[in-house]
Order: sequence, then structure tokens, then C-alpha cells
Amino acid sequence: MSQSAMNGGFKKSLVLGGVTVSFLALAAGFFLDLWGHPTQSPLIPLVATNFINTATVRVSAGELIASGGDASGLDCYACHEKNKPLKLTFDAESNVILAKEHDDIVMGHGRHKRNNNCFNCHDDTNLEFLQTRDGHQVKLVDSPALCGSCHGPTYRDWEAGVHGRTSGYWKRDLGPIDRKVCTSCHDPHSPAFPGREPAPGPHLLHPIAKVSKERIR
Ligand code: HEC
Ligand code: HEC
Ligand code: HEC
Ligand code: HEC
Repeated sequence: MSQSAMNGGFKKSLVLGGVTVSFLALAAGFFLDLWGHPTQSPLIPLVATNFINTATVRVSAGELIASGGDASGLDCYACHEKNKPLKLTFDAESNVILAKEHDDIVMGHGRHKRNNNCFNCHDDTNLEFLQTRDGHQVKLVDSPALCGSCHGPTYRDWEAGVHGRTSGYWKRDLGPIDRKVCTSCHDPHSPAFPGREPAPGPHLLHPIAKVSKERIR
């Protein structure tokens, strides 16, 4: 064997030996947990269920009747007398004084109580009907026509599907389109929405936020 071949063989076993020793050292390092474990990746917080609930904020008169719920409050002539005119009474601040049977109603339609008079909307000659701005009778369950008689631009948006919410089928031969009526969202007596907390932001790929086990509210 030549001198150089012997040298080559020696170098080779030196390298292999070195690699083996380093792997053994690494194995020992891992076994003894020298470097510890990486910190656990942050938990993705659960979103509060109110943000994923798809129900509208209220149940309209029409939906209440259709669902077979307690619609006794809509049966005006269970308590009222037909053909007996109702007289509204007002307090010093010109608020309608409500009978105790109606004390669940909170009137607050428009700034400066602009539209708080019951008979701006209800037909004073027949309580089972609403009365549009131009004097047409519509049923209690057909309230969009009433709202539209004063809120023309919003009504147009709603008809076009820009205001409110459209669900059901886009492809009409598969099924009907479902457009929620105004009173599925707005209380006709106090239609403004109270402010609400924004939903949480999207989950980041590399979260910078603190680890959180709590629900975001
Ligand atoms: C549980 C019984 C009851 C039902 C149901 C009822 N009312 Fe009344 N409502 C009363 C009483 C009592 C008064 C007080 C005036 C009176 O005695 O007639 C009143 C008064 C009113 C007034 C005058 C404002 C006030 O509070 O005094 C309006 C407007 C009115 N009702 C509309 C309606 C309409 C519209 C319906 C149906 C959608 C209806 N009510 C259903 C019992 C009822
Ligand atoms: C007789 C006319 C009239 C009818 C009918 C009417 N509104 Fe209004 N509405 C008003 C006026 C007036 C305002 C106040 C505008 C302002 O203050 O600038 C208002 C304000 C509002 C607002 C803004 C929030 C607020 O309180 O200021 C909403 C939402 C609303 N109406 C929804 C409805 C819905 C839903 C209906 C049908 C159930 C309806 N309105 C029927 C006249 C009407
Ligand atoms: C802006 C129009 C508007 C005004 C003003 C208004 N109402 Fe109504 N009211 C409605 C509509 C629309 C419904 C049917 C609601 C639905 O679809 O949920 C209704 C429903 C009712 C009902 C039956 C359901 C319930 O909420 O109890 C009563 C009772 C009632 N109104 C009484 C009154 C009285 C009393 C006043 C005056 C103090 C008044 N309303 C003023 C539009 C109005
Ligand atoms: C799916 C729920 C939903 C339906 C259905 C709906 N609205 Fe609204 N509406 C809203 C919300 C949410 C706002 C915004 C409230 C805010 O910005 O504070 C609003 C705002 C309004 C306003 C305030 C002014 C404006 O245009 O921004 C009016 C008036 C109004 N709606 C009328 C109506 C009428 C009339 C109908 C039926 C023809 C209707 N809405 C149907 C949810 C709804």
C-alpha cells in the first residue's frame, strides 16, 4: 500500500469517527434536554358565539306568526274595542303616555322623537292595519311598505338587496330568495341600532399577541 492511500484511509475514519461522536453528543444533548423545548405556539382564541350566530337581532311579526310563537300581542282586538276611537294622551315632554299593557314598548323613532306618534304608522280606525304615509292600509306583517313610505332611498336599497340581508337561493329555479323584512332587524318603535363591539381581527400566521386562553368577547 502506498503512503498516500494509507493517509486517505486514516482521514476517512477520522471524519466518520468525528461525525459519530457529534451525533452521539447531540443525542445526549436532546436526551438530557439541554436546550429545553421551544415555547408552545400560542392558542388561537375561540370566538364568542355571538359573532358567528346568523340569526337576525329580532323576530318580526310575520316571522312570529309563521313560527307559531305567542302572537297574542298582535291580536289588537282581544283587548281593544272595534270602532271605538283611541285617544292618545301626552306628558309634558310630548311623549305618548303608554297604557300598562303596552309598557314593553319603548318609543324612540328618530332624533328629537320625530316619529313617536302611534298613528303615524298604525291605522287609528283599524288597529290590525298599518297606515302608510300616503294613507294606504297595509297589514302588520307587511311593514316594509310602511317603512318605505317614509324611507324611500333605504327602501330602494333594500329592494335591490343592498340594505338588509338577502339569503335563500340566487338561482331562482332551485328555490325562493329570502329577504329579511325591516322589522327583523329594526324595532319599529326604536329603530336605531345600539353600538356594538367589533368582532375580533383575523388570526395572524405569526401571532404577536400574548398567549390567551380566554375567549375574545
Ligand atoms: C293585552 C291587551 C292589549 C292588546 C293585545 C293590545 N292593546 Fe293597545 N291598549 C290596551 C289598553 C288597555 C290601552 C289603554 C287605552 C284603552 O283603554 O283603550 C291600549 C292603548 C293603545 C294605544 C294608545 C296608547 C296607549 O298606550 O295608551 C294604542 C296606539 C294601541 N293600544 C295600539 C294597539 C295595537 C296596534 C295593538 C295590536 C297590534 C294593541 N294595541 C294590542 C291593551 C291592549
Ligand atoms: C311616518 C314616517 C316614518 C315611517 C312610517 C317610518 N319612519 Fe323611520 N324615521 C322617520 C323619521 C322622521 C326619522 C328621523 C330622521 C332624523 O331624525 O333625521 C326616522 C328614523 C329612522 C331610523 C334612523 C334611526 C333613528 O331612530 O334616528 C331608522 C333605522 C328608521 N327610521 C327605520 C324605520 C323602519 C324600520 C320603519 C318601518 C317599521 C320606519 N322607520 C318607518 C320617519 C318614519
Ligand atoms: C314607525 C312606525 C310605528 C310607530 C310610530 C308605532 N308603531 Fe307600533 N308597530 C309598528 C310595526 C311595523 C309593528 C309590527 C312589528 C313587527 O313586524 O315586529 C308594530 C307593532 C305594534 C304592536 C304589537 C307588537 C308589539 O311590539 O307589542 C303594538 C302593541 C304597537 N305596535 C303599539 C304601538 C303604540 C302604542 C305606539 C305609539 C306609542 C306605536 N305602536 C307606534 C310600527 C309603529
Ligand atoms: C338585516 C338587517 C336589516 C334589515 C333587514 C334592514 N336594516 Fe336598516 N339598518 C340595518 C343596520 C345594521 C343599519 C346601520 C345602523 C347603524 O349604522 O348604526 C341600518 C340602518 C338603517 C337606517 C339609517 C339610515 C341609513 O340608511 O343608513 C334606516 C332609515 C334603515 N336602516 C331603514 C330600513 C328599512 C326601511 C328597512 C326595510 C325596507 C331596513 N332598514 C331593513 C339593518 C337592517
